[in-house]
Amino acid sequence: MLTYAQEHMIEATAPVVAQHLDSITQRFYPLMFSRYPEVKPLFNEVHQQSGGQPRALASAVLAYVQLRHDPAKARATLGVVVSKHVSLGIQPDQYPIVGECLMAAIGEVLGDAVTPAVADAWKALYNELAALLINLEHKRYLEFEQRPGGWSGTRRFKIASVKQESALIRSFVLAPEDGQPVADYEPGQYIGLHLTINGESVYRHYSLSDLPNNRSYRISIKREEQGLVSRHFHDVMQQGDSVELLPPAGDLTLVEGDETLLFASGGVGQTPLLPMASHALALGREVTYLHAALDANHEAFKNEIEALKAKYPQRFKAIRIHERGNAADHIGRIDREMLAHYLPKRSPRCYFVGPQGFMTSLDLALAELGVEADRRHFEHFGPSRPLGVAQA
Ligand SMILES: Cc1cc2nc3c(=O)[nH]c(=O)nc-3n(C[C@H](O)[C@H](O)[C@H](O)COP(=O)(O)OP(=O)(O)OC[C@H]3O[C@@H](n4cnc5c(N)ncnc54)[C@H](O)[C@@H]3O)c2cc1C
Ligand code: HEM
Repeated sequence: MLTYAQEHMIEATAPVVAQHLDSITQRFYPLMFSRYPEVKPLFNEVHQQSGGQPRALASAVLAYVQLRHDPAKARATLGVVVSKHVSLGIQPDQYPIVGECLMAAIGEVLGDAVTPAVADAWKALYNELAALLINLEHKRYLEFEQRPGGWSGTRRFKIASVKQESALIRSFVLAPEDGQPVADYEPGQYIGLHLTINGESVYRHYSLSDLPNNRSYRISIKREEQGLVSRHFHDVMQQGDSVELLPPAGDLTLVEGDETLLFASGGVGQTPLLPMASHALALGREVTYLHAALDANHEAFKNEIEALKAKYPQRFKAIRIHERGNAADHIGRIDREMLAHYLPKRSPRCYFVGPQGFMTSLDLALAELGVEADRRHFEHFGPSRPLGVAQA
């Protein structure tokens, strides 16, 4: 609990912390990794280099200065963080590590401005936020553990089958080594995966690309030319090899209702959207499904889309867009004109996933076409960040 004086001190010093946020975060991670090397494998090195994740953590602490006055909004906003943490198995005893190193970084960067009283106020704020996250994460761990087929910590799975879906995307069906059932998840969610490559422990997230079936999970991985884990999956991992999975999580899930739905994906961004579309159709909803790929060779899940078209001829409209070739409904990219043409007329709800540029342009176009912000849903395959469109 912050005292009134501490609240006042936080409000007064927040602008200075905000101004030096980048320097603080640049200092924070090296400091933490040198003092506590055991937490380093949890963090994706490429996200560190790009600066996206470091900024995300520190920005969340800063955003909490205002958010704490609205507990319901705070819980909702922190949902994305809780999901990321749960899918990585983050534990309460790791919070003091982050707190200590964040405070040390703030102290180093702001120097004498951080009097003992100011430091105590920020520590108290961090501890309040940490307690909130620990509580929300504890509830999620407990709920998942108690779900039929759930587990606690990591569970070993083996690759039951492998399927090449397109030139660069390969699906892996993962079945538990203990042969017991696996818990359901919400279509659209992802799973945390841990494996060891050349003696190095690494974690990644992959969307669950199929509907839940109680026996196995399917992930579909795009081979990145320089990617550590994706290349390992494509070039080394085979049927029978093992990985460890953490609980499924994620907030890009179907919002209940009867609105017509537009899904739009670019490349491997299709992985969360395909099961969501399938699920929506099974619930009786109308779905328009735009998928953009480089060309016919790079288009994944053609058979599954065809099967949905055959099963739901009245309610499912699928449109294929290729950048090149002549094997699609449109050649080029999804643009405002195309969206205007396919956007359902009756209060549509839109889900879109793809590279940052793809999502930014769709978000902008959909906003211009009158789709309000709370009906535009998207997810980054990396640290979350805004798309830069004014709230519409
Ligand atoms: C919620 C969520 C869901 C996701 N779902 C999926 C999914 O369904 N399918 C999927 O394929 N991915 C998905 N991802 C992305 C996935 O987690 C990995 O980030 C992705 O597989 C790349 O990991 P990697 O280890 O292969 O690449 P990393 O080693 O982490 O590299 C990341 C990128 O940086 C580039 N890079 C790395 N090193 C260099 C270098 N030295 N020089 C130049 N470039 C370099 C790589 O080419 C790659 O593009 C998801 C991510 C999130 C957060
Ligand atoms: C109050 C404390 C914390 C806050 C405010 C916080 C905030 C965040 C935020 C905003 C993200 C990005 C979420 C996204 O991608 O959308 C994140 C991701 C992450 N957090 Fe935390 N976090 C805290 C504590 C911790 C702790 C204690 C650990 C464990 C050491 C941790 C490990 C991670 C990891 C590994 C990621 C994903 C990093 C990646 O993508 O490479 N966090 N956190």
